[in-house]
Amino acid sequence: MAHLKVLFVCLGNICRSPTADGVFRQLVVDAGLEQQIEVDSAGTAAWHIGKTPDPRTQQAAAERGYDLSALRARQAVSEDFNQYDYILAMDISNLDNLKSIQPVESKASLGLFLDYIPELGRKEVPDPYYGGDEGFEQVLDLVEAAGHKLLVELQQRLK
Ligand code: 4NP
Repeated sequence: MAHLKVLFVCLGNICRSPTADGVFRQLVVDAGLEQQIEVDSAGTAAWHIGKTPDPRTQQAAAERGYDLSALRARQAVSEDFNQYDYILAMDISNLDNLKSIQPVESKASLGLFLDYIPELGRKEVPDPYYGGDEGFEQVLDLVEAAGHKLLVELQQRLK
């Protein structure tokens, strides 16, 4: 049976990419595809390795029914390009960081997560870390919208 692996990447792996991880994981479960689509997240920075998602991230996600408490931060590594089919960055700086560790021969499709919703006219999921609560809500809004579009693409590939 076909199997696809998706890795979401931000800077710290405690705010945006864990949100994408938890939201997309739920979409996959709701679609009955958890045996065929594997989801993970990572950060380009090493600062928060081993930590749970930021409490504000967990709180905002929990209010929409997503449990992020089992996630632990890790750093993206070159080997991820051999393990994942899709590596999706939250912003252009993360994308540039990923390009710098991308092996010459990598099977992964590397891009920006928000490229799945071009009609939105924005490329980046803004970093909520130094801002207020509304930033965490915005992350959820953007990730839910792009997640739905990504799921449609993966469902096509799995047919
Ligand atoms: P994330 O947010 O990249 O969405 O996880 C950040 C988390 C931590 C820091 C910056 C952004 N930090 O500077 O520690």
